[in-house]
Amino acid sequence: MTDLIRVSDANGVRTLRFDRADKKNAITRAMYSAMADGLEEANARSDIRVVVIAGGEGCFSAGNDLMDFMEAPPHIGGGETPPVERFMMALMMCEKPVIAAVDGLAVGIGTTLLLHCDLVYATERALFTTPFVNLALAPEYGSSQILPGIVGRAVASEMLLLGAKWDARKAEAKNLINAVLPTEGFDAAVMEIAQQITQLAPGAVKTAKMLINLPPEDIKDRIVREGGLFAEQLRTNEFKEAVTAFMERRAPDFSKFG
Ligand code: COA
Repeated sequence: MTDLIRVSDANGVRTLRFDRADKKNAITRAMYSAMADGLEEANARSDIRVVVIAGGEGCFSAGNDLMDFMEAPPHIGGGETPPVERFMMALMMCEKPVIAAVDGLAVGIGTTLLLHCDLVYATERALFTTPFVNLALAPEYGSSQILPGIVGRAVASEMLLLGAKWDARKAEAKNLINAVLPTEGFDAAVMEIAQQITQLAPGAVKTAKMLINLPPEDIKDRIVREGGLFAEQLRTNEFKEAVTAFMERRAPDFSKFG
C-alpha cells in the first residue's frame, strides 16, 4: 500500500497520478504495484472507459527510484514478477485507451512508459530522456524496438545511446507525443480529450486499440482480420445505437455498453 499514487475516478475516467514531489516522482516498488492495481481494476470495470497517467506540476517522473534499483534490482523473466514488470504488463495489456499527461521531466521509465500509452500530451516545460547507457544500464520494455519504429534508428540512438534530452517541441516533431498543450489548464485539456473517449462505443474503441497495437503482419491477413471484426461490430447493439442516433439526429448514448 502507498499513498504516493493518487487514484481518482470521475465520469468514466480513471486518473493515476504520481504524487512524490519531494523525490521528483521517482517510482518505488510500492508505487509500481499501486499503478498495476489501478490499471488492472480500470481494465475490469465497465464504468471506466479511459485511464490518464499523470505526474505533478512541472514533473512527470524522474524514473525508477535509484535506491530501489540498488536494493532490489528487478529481474525480468525471472522467478517472482517484480512490481515494475507487473506495472508495465498491466499497461501493455490494458484494453482501454491510456493517455499520458506529461508536465515536466520524464526520465527513464517515465519516458519508456509513454511508448506504451495510446495518446501522449505534454506541456512546453516537458523534457524527455532515457539515460540508460549513461547510467551503465540498457534500454527497457521494448523501447529499443518501439522507439526506432517511431522515429527511425538514427534519431532513436540520440535518446537510447547518447541519452539526449528532448524538449516538448522536439518530442512533438518526432512523433513521440501527440501535441504540446498550454501549461495553463493542462489537466483540464487532457481531461477533455479523455471525456471524448468516454462518449465513444466501448467495444469499437477496444477493437481499434487492439488492432493498432498488433505486430505487423501480411496486409492481406490484416484485411481479413479487420473484416472479421468489422462484421462482428455490425451485429452489436452499440452499432445499432450509433445508426439509430444518426437517424434520429441525436448524439449516440453508449453509456449502457461496456
Ligand atoms: N531515484 C531516487 N531519488 C531521486 C531520483 C531517482 N530516480 N530522482 C531524484 N531523486 C531525489 C533526489 O535524490 C533528491 O532527493 P533529496 O532531496 O532527498 O536529496 C530529490 O529527488 C530532488 O532531486 P534533485 O536532484 O535535487 O532535483 P533536480 O531538480 O536538481 O534534478 C533530476 C532532478 C530528475 C534531473 C535529477 O534528480 C536526476 O537526474 N535524477 C535521476 C534520474 C534518473 O537517473 N532516473 C533513473 C533512470 S533509469
